[in-house]
Amino acid sequence: MIVLGIESSCDETAAAVLSIKMDKLTILSNIVNSQVKIHKNYGGVVPEVAARQHMQNILPIIELALENASLELKDIDLIAVTLGPGLATSLMVGLETAKTLAWINNKNFISVNHLVGHIWSWLLPVKERAEKNLTEVNFPFITLLVSGGHTELILVKDFNKFELLGRTLDDAVGEAFDKVAKMLGLGYPGGPEIAREAVKGNRDAFSLPRPMLDSDDLNFSFAGLKTAVLYELKKQKISKKLIKDMAASFEKAAVDVLLRKTLKAVSNSNVKNVVVAGGVSANQYLRQEFAGVKDLNIKFPEVIYTGDNAAMIALAGYFLYNLKPGGSNNDYLGLKALPNLIIV
Ligand code: KG4
Ligand code: ZN
Repeated sequence: MIVLGIESSCDETAAAVLSIKMDKLTILSNIVNSQVKIHKNYGGVVPEVAARQHMQNILPIIELALENASLELKDIDLIAVTLGPGLATSLMVGLETAKTLAWINNKNFISVNHLVGHIWSWLLPVKERAEKNLTEVNFPFITLLVSGGHTELILVKDFNKFELLGRTLDDAVGEAFDKVAKMLGLGYPGGPEIAREAVKGNRDAFSLPRPMLDSDDLNFSFAGLKTAVLYELKKQKISKKLIKDMAASFEKAAVDVLLRKTLKAVSNSNVKNVVVAGGVSANQYLRQEFAGVKDLNIKFPEVIYTGDNAAMIALAGYFLYNLKPGGSNNDYLGLKALPNLIIV
């Protein structure tokens, strides 16, 4: 089966073509057009600007994905697109484009929860044309989803059976990285900037709080950690050393909470297969800390698939479609983007 994936939920316009035959997955093309350079000027994503960029780019990106795969639309068996969550006007661009393409070309259509896309990103093979065996999937597993908009612990019981174990009650962890970077005068997005400074700093220079670490549940809170950094900075004179030490101490505190809550989820559920996904899972310190835990079977996506991409949407669409093959009909024409879609 040849699947075209389309993703436009935030500030990446993306299209990818996957080939899946006898449980063997090959990525034929994977195009991600990031708007980060545009939004950098505003210190964050501006929804109106993002939607306009998606409008301009979506068709050329889809054309490029098909061209790189040496295929045409007629060769596609299934179109998979992100339904939500995300920015309403950004989501609409991808969704309406996918609906139109499916309708005029009489293609099968499936809509995908963006978060489920991230859950499958660890299965994407390292590079285009490399093969991956999809029989590697063992249920259940726990996913820690960490990105600019999400911090969630999800128990994945089957291809379409998920249980939300815990989530952030305020800021997402990626958002905290971005805000702390801003306080330190570093660029946007803040995660990679913090990581770059942190490797040169002292992780124990500042003792920062680990919010909700001892709460009975599996929820997170990062607003307090961010505020603690702000108060500490008010007491200090900004210097290159301070930036490095604060970045290192913040990174340690954030990863510590993520790891310890994940371990709590592991011991509560007795599920030792863990996937960490989403933009923040690119963080090398996080990878090192998680990978260092004994008796945990931990998987990360290739770094290129940690951020938003359409290959993960195509794969999630493929799994969903195969649960009810032939289930596609014209009902999809009435679908509306769901900016607040959750995982259930
Ligand atoms: O998944 P993503 O690309 O977009 C969504 O939010 O859906 O995640 C972006 C987030 C940003 O907050 C960014 O600062 C963070 O991921 N990030 C990182 C790193 N690379 C990206 N955070 C920590 N360390 C990194 N190396
Ligand atoms: Zn995402």
